This record gives sequence, C-alpha cells and structure tokens, in this order.
Amino acid sequence: MKLWGSRMEKELDEEVARFSTSIMDDYVLYPFDLWGSAAHCLMLERVGLLEKTEASAIMDGLRTIMGELREGEIDPSPYEDVHSLVEGRLHELIGETAGKLHAGRSRNDQIVLDERLFLREAIATAGEEIINLLRGFLKKAEEYPELVMPGYTHLQPAQPVLFSHHMMAYFSMFRRDAERLRDVLPRVNTLPLGAAALAGTSLPIERGEVARLLAFPAVQDNSMDIVSDRDFILEVLSHLALGALHLSRLAEEIVLWVSPGFGFLEIDDAFTTGSSIMPQKKNPDVAELIRGKSGESISGWLSLAVTLKGLPLSYNRDLQQDKAPMLRVVREVTDSLHLASRLVDNVKPRKEIMAAALNEGFLTATDLAEHLVERGIPFRRAHSLVGALVRDLASRGRSFTDMRSEELISIIGEMEEDMLPLLDPVQSVKRKRSYGSTAPVEVARQVEEGRYFVKQEKKRLGELQARWEKSYVEMFPGDETP
Ligand code: ARG
Repeated sequence: MKLWGSRMEKELDEEVARFSTSIMDDYVLYPFDLWGSAAHCLMLERVGLLEKTEASAIMDGLRTIMGELREGEIDPSPYEDVHSLVEGRLHELIGETAGKLHAGRSRNDQIVLDERLFLREAIATAGEEIINLLRGFLKKAEEYPELVMPGYTHLQPAQPVLFSHHMMAYFSMFRRDAERLRDVLPRVNTLPLGAAALAGTSLPIERGEVARLLAFPAVQDNSMDIVSDRDFILEVLSHLALGALHLSRLAEEIVLWVSPGFGFLEIDDAFTTGSSIMPQKKNPDVAELIRGKSGESISGWLSLAVTLKGLPLSYNRDLQQDKAPMLRVVREVTDSLHLASRLVDNVKPRKEIMAAALNEGFLTATDLAEHLVERGIPFRRAHSLVGALVRDLASRGRSFTDMRSEELISIIGEMEEDMLPLLDPVQSVKRKRSYGSTAPVEVARQVEEGRYFVKQEKKRLGELQARWEKSYVEMFPGDETP
C-alpha cells in the first residue's frame, strides 16, 4: 500500500521505489510498531478522535496482524517499510477505519518510537548477558581462590598474582559496560510519539497518556529534535562497541593462554574445532570469532556517526540508514556476550603449568626490594641491589628457585631474618596489603562486592522488563513479548 500519491502526476519510478525501501531492515521492528500503534489508538479513542467501535476494530486488526507476522503469513517484500506494511494490512482487514489511525502522527516520529522501544529492550537483554559473563568470572574466582600465576606487563613476566585477581580484573572491565548501559537508559526510554512530522499537531492528542500506556517515564520535549535525533542510538552503539572491544581483549587473552607458549588454559572439546587437514588440531575458534566480530560492531558505530554528521534539522531520509548498523551491532554484541560467558564457563586453568611459569622471570624481585625499603634502605638503592642480583643469576642461567641464603646475603647484605621466603610467589601475593591489590583478602572483598552488584543489577533489569511486559500484554494479551 502506498501512503501517499495524490500529490504526484506520475507513478513512482520502479527503480526509485526499490532504492528507497527499508522493509528488509525495519521489518523485524514490527512488534514494536504494532505496540506503539495500539497505544496511539487507545489515546485517540480517549481524546475522542476515534469512536469506541472504531478503536476496537483497529485493536483487533493490530492483534490479528501481530499473529500473522509471528506466523510468517505476510510477505513483507512488496512494502516500502514496516509502517506501510502494518497500515496496508490493517486497511485490508478493516477497511477505511484503518485510515483514522495515522491522525496526529507521522512515520518520522513513529520510526523513532519503534527504535526506542526496541533499544530499551536490547539494553536490558545485553545487560543480562553481561551479568551472566560477570557471574562466570565470579565463579572462576571463587573456584580457584588460591591459585597463583605470573602477572604480565608488556607481555613480559612481572609479578605473581592470583588467578582470581585476573578474573576480577575482567569483572571490573565488564561491570563498567553494565553501568554504562544503565546510565544511557533514561535517554533512550523516553517517548517521541506526538512530534508528528516535525512541528507537532493541531489535533488534541495526549502524549502523557501514550507515555503511560507504553511505560515511558518521560516525554521528549522538542518535536524538531525528536524526529532528527539519533544520539540515543549512537550512544548505545558506542557502549556496545566498547563492550565488543572488551570481549575482543578477553578473547585475545584466551587465544594466547591456550597456545603452547603459555598453556595456562584448557578449553572444553565442545568449544573447540578441529582442522580439515591436520588431525591433531584443537583450535579456539569461538574466541577468534568473538575477536573478529568486534571489528564489525565498532564499524557499526562509525557508520551511523558518519550518516548523522552534516544533517540539517529536522528529519532527512538519510536517517533511514540507521537501522542496519543498529540491528547488526545489537545482534552481534548480544550473541558474542552470550558465547563469551559460555566460553568462560568452559575453560579450566592448568595449575601445574602456571606453577612452573612462576619459576621463570624473577617475579618476586620487587618483593625483595620492598622488604629492603621496610628495613630503611631507599627504594632506588634497593632496586639497584636486587637488579644486580638478577643480572648475576640470569648471566649464569639460574633463577630465584635455587638461591641459597648465603648467596643472598653476599649481595644484599646481612638481615635479621631469613630473606629466602620473600622469593616465594605464594608468599608474595599474601604479603600484599594495599586496597585493590592481589592479596587474597582483597580479592575476596572484590568477589563479595561483585556478587552484590550482580544481584542488584539482575533485580533492577527484571523490574524494568516486568514493567514493559505489563504494558505489552495489556494490548496484546497472550502474545509473547518482543
Ligand atoms: N522508513 C523511514 C525511516 O526509517 C521512515 C519513514 C519516513 N519517510 C519519509 N518519507 N518521511 O526513517
């Protein structure tokens, strides 16, 4: 169905029609388009722009269309976009009354309504996936509270750390992603409908009522901004792209850790793939694909940013190009988060390899230097003494593991107590005392706070989703929520 035409003397050129359609991108938004249309219909009835019988015919029609689309009974391809599909099918079902539904609205505000309804749900879903991933890190940290491994800077062995501390570092990274999504929600979860094309409407619509029906806590306040604004999408994509970037860093570390050079992790067979030619292979493809797909998510953000740059107010058709990157980034990041949390559940640290790696790289050199500081030696001098010791041992192909007390004394000088235990990596982590350090008590504190965060966040997301679901099932009883 064409939504316009009487103004033109000629039929639309066929190639132009094909060029300007967006149905294959925006079709998936149909549950949101129908939901928003139902709320608009109920409001039109309330303000007297629809008779009761007209409103109920429209509501019945919208419910029928929801069912038909769910069952795949409508071929979307002949339509220009999701809005013309819904209005066209409604016209077939209930005749002329269908034409009353578009009073006081435009596709320009309708599309941003669909996008906002879609994105707030996507934020909650991505939030839940992040929670699952966070739980994965917590579980690993709790399972191996005492496991010590080398920590790295510059990918060079640096100091002993707890494996659980390393897990909680990722927890902190992804917790920020959850917080960013939480922070952006109020700017997404606000009602655009009622801006109409750009100037509002002379009809007596009640925007507050539509907001209430759709469980939006606020109404957007400038009709021109409403139809031209896509900041809310760009912001969400930026947070999701950052999440994808974090996933890529995690994936890279998993790839490194399962390679024989490190050998710190083992991945369950179900999460690895073989080679079509090399019979011995066991490859970490899931991690590699997560790393690979992150590039597309980052480019989705860029694609929308470039579309928006240079657009004058208010609505411009360029904005139609926002759907493909929005949908792609949401889908890919949500899928990657899901697989990443399953991957984390399916890896196991190889304790003996980590333990062996602790003997290389003089990891406890800093502990020795800090001990000298406690004995009143200036840190720079302590650094130089221990550096000389390491140089001497390294030149003779030795490590801290076969040091004897007398050797230590000959280079460092006499101390009251035996200094050899200072070289033990397990003692090293236990001796840490600063807030946020790798000391077992500090990591335990992080885990405990982490558990609390996850519980609160899960509860918050559940409450939001319940509110949205209530709005939806009031208009589409018995239908699964979008
Ligand atoms: N499909 C359009 C979009 O995604 C909405 C329709 C607005 N079209 C128009 N000619 N004003 O932005």
